[in-house]
Amino acid sequence: DREVLSKMNYPIYANVLMSVVSYFLTVRLIPKFRDMFIKGNLYGIDMNKKDGGKVPEALGVVTGCVFLITMFLFIPVPFTDYIFKNADFPHNEFVEMLAALLSICCMLLLGFADDVLDLRWRHKLLLPTIASLPLLMVYYVNFNSTLIIVPKPLRPWFGLSVDLWLLYYVYMGMLAVFCTNAINILAGVNGLEVGQSLVIAASISIFNLVELSGNVWKAHQFSLYFMLPYMATSLALFKHNWYPSQVFVGDTFCYLSGMTFAVVGILGHFSKTILLFFIPQIINFLYSIPQLFHLVPCPRHRLPRYNKETDKLDISVTVFKKSELNVLAKLCLWVFRTLKIVSWKEDKTGLVTCNNLTLINFILYMIGPTSEPSLTIILILIQIMSSVLAFMIRYPLASVFYDI
Ligand code: UD1
Ligand code: MG
Repeated sequence: DREVLSKMNYPIYANVLMSVVSYFLTVRLIPKFRDMFIKGNLYGIDMNKKDGGKVPEALGVVTGCVFLITMFLFIPVPFTDYIFKNADFPHNEFVEMLAALLSICCMLLLGFADDVLDLRWRHKLLLPTIASLPLLMVYYVNFNSTLIIVPKPLRPWFGLSVDLWLLYYVYMGMLAVFCTNAINILAGVNGLEVGQSLVIAASISIFNLVELSGNVWKAHQFSLYFMLPYMATSLALFKHNWYPSQVFVGDTFCYLSGMTFAVVGILGHFSKTILLFFIPQIINFLYSIPQLFHLVPCPRHRLPRYNKETDKLDISVTVFKKSELNVLAKLCLWVFRTLKIVSWKEDKTGLVTCNNLTLINFILYMIGPTSEPSLTIILILIQIMSSVLAFMIRYPLASVFYDI
């Protein structure tokens, strides 16, 4: 028994070893690229600092490349047994690996294009959809299960399971769009993009480790192959991106992360569970809706406002005339005001000053001006607590809704 177990896990041990090497490689590589990126005009201004110096942008491309190289070198490892025995090669598993890497590689390119060219919003929705097509094709060929088990309370109406057919593919395509963009719009304080991604990746890995002893262990092992090197390279980026940031991660990193999560969720067959690890991102998205759909004016940057005197961050605001809002906008804001989750100041002329609708500003509205590193720590703690909640929903609570 133990022999089977060790055989089953040896690719993971190899993966861990390669991840450790890739961590040290990335940590050393990032500073070497700093000046090169600034010379190539790839830099941003840190808006929350006294002396807004040039900070190289889009360093996610470096971690992304090391991640991909690690994965490329890893490709033969899970298949060594078959290669040496020269029999029954599992082409279906092999093609899953290649399609996963193709989608991630594609997204890395698109993210970098976004950082260099500043793409429009419609592209940000279109590109991840297209990048996920190879993945959906492989899912169709290999698995094509679009059945979902209905929760117990709804069974009198829908029966034990429902086949969603095409809708399930639409869902998976949208998952890629959501994961990529949701991370990108929960950003603006040093270390947050990588910090939240690391918590999500760690949560996915814990989930995979737990499920490794179950009967679909292969899918979870597949997910771990990707998560471990991803975490190693991102941890290296985190080191340089933490307050005060020496480098910015860019949309490249957000896209790469979102796509990697979508890939393991889809091909690891846990594309619904994975959303549980995105609770803060879902809240941020829902709260942002009025601005994302331009019901309320949305400035180019919604990150908190920096106060030079106190060196603290406070809410940033958007200003508009109440009479110019349409019905839908008024409804959304009425809901937010009733729930007391927005800062709202209205003068006699009907001019409204409202905080930009992001989770970051909401936290600042609740706790008042805060220094940048403390704010990032609070937001990462929220992400961790949400993951704890996710595990409670997935394990103890799931038995209320499903027979497990
Ligand atoms: C998203 C957000 C935007 C937010 C921006 C900040 C939406 C719809 N878009 O836009 O509101 O302002 O991310 O990342 O919600 N920056 C800092 N400190 C940081 C990180 C970024 O000052 O810790 C600034 C830098 O000037 C950097 C720029 O933000 O150059 C990067 O912005 P970018 O990633 O291009 O913005 P978006 O992802 O389009
Ligand atoms: Mg961004």
